[in-house]
Amino acid sequence: MLYSGPVNPTFSRRLSWPAPPNALSLLRAELEGGGRRVLDFSASNPTRVGLPSLFAPGRAGTAGPDALAGAEKLLYAPDPRGLASAREALVRFYAGGGGGRRASPPLDPASLFLCASTSEAYGWLFKLLCDPGDSVLVPRPGYPLFDYLAGLESVEARPYRLEYAHPRGWRIDLESVEAALRAGRARALVLINPNNPTGSYAAPAERAALLELCARHGTAIIADEVFFGFPVEAEPEGSSAPRSFLGEDSVLVFVLDGLSKLLGLPQAKLGWIAASGPRAELGEALGRLEIVADSYLSAGTPIMAALPGLLDRERLFGGAARARIAANMAALRSALEEPGSPHRLLRCEGGWTALVESPRIEPEEELARGLLWEEGLWAQPGYFFDMEREAFFTASLILDESALLEGARRYRAYFDRLLA
Ligand SMILES: Cc1ncc(COP(=O)(O)O)c(C=O)c1O
Repeated sequence: MLYSGPVNPTFSRRLSWPAPPNALSLLRAELEGGGRRVLDFSASNPTRVGLPSLFAPGRAGTAGPDALAGAEKLLYAPDPRGLASAREALVRFYAGGGGGRRASPPLDPASLFLCASTSEAYGWLFKLLCDPGDSVLVPRPGYPLFDYLAGLESVEARPYRLEYAHPRGWRIDLESVEAALRAGRARALVLINPNNPTGSYAAPAERAALLELCARHGTAIIADEVFFGFPVEAEPEGSSAPRSFLGEDSVLVFVLDGLSKLLGLPQAKLGWIAASGPRAELGEALGRLEIVADSYLSAGTPIMAALPGLLDRERLFGGAARARIAANMAALRSALEEPGSPHRLLRCEGGWTALVESPRIEPEEELARGLLWEEGLWAQPGYFFDMEREAFFTASLILDESALLEGARRYRAYFDRLLA
């Protein structure tokens, strides 16, 4: 007989959950539930913005819907690192300068681990590097996902700062990194290269300083490079092009990438870790990571087997996305920055997101509500990303041009009314 007495569930305290409902999301759901069409100015889902899909049927240059069929996809031959053919394809892809990186010496396929997503890769790396209660350093402003991913592994995410000076752009506050490292041992420094939503790559001097600091403190680097291949605004005259952390061997480094952004296929669920570092430490790390990976065996055989053919066609998505984000940034600048405009766009070096700074006539949350209610425009406010000041909103650079311009029009109209 099933037990039918009182239930006193005890749940983990690794997160403060259930999370209180987000008032803005509730309002959006209410409006949409009532039949109102909301324009998502911050849309980041690449499958819903009219960019070419490698899975699309009947279109020249795609892998087509049969990409996931074929004899090699019928068998299950588990390998903790993922299918060798997929890892070898990644080695060739990066060695040839794929994904916006410079051509580089080939990686060792044994240093690559395939998993379901970069989000999962974070979980694996926190398990590899941290005990419960340990900490990792994460960028602020930054994408809120990392607090959850760390919390789910009972790891504390401690912030280091990025600061903005117009028009030069963002820089990493290296003193805040050093202070955070001195305040208590951090097992890893998470570096998003380029960061989301600030769109800033690690500058060469920052890269060198972070490597030196991490070497001194015995801290590994997790370099999330999912947006690396999407440069937006050219570097200022005289500065050098951003560099990937792939193959860096002065400290233990784990570079993350995946199909969500590289090929605009978040539904394919394939991400990977490329590990590098000093020989002995790397050997230890790979052996341990193999145990983590073997415990999950997360990556699906059909998508791994399809990877070589998909990477060969990277340009179909990447080319279109790169052209679109550069054109959109220029279009946003003309739409929002004409002389006398109360808005300005922060410098954006790479990624899919532009940050618009606007007058803080009201708190960001009120402005976001007003945009939704009066203009039917959803724009993520800066506080979602822990910006230090208000008022900022994100605009997506992957929107199709008409949605982007309509979003900019509604955004301006709302502020023009408030400022009148
Ligand atoms: C910087 C960054 N890394 C990782 C992810 C998650 O990607 P995935 O779909 O591979 O888990 C995101 C999601 O937007 C992101 O912004």
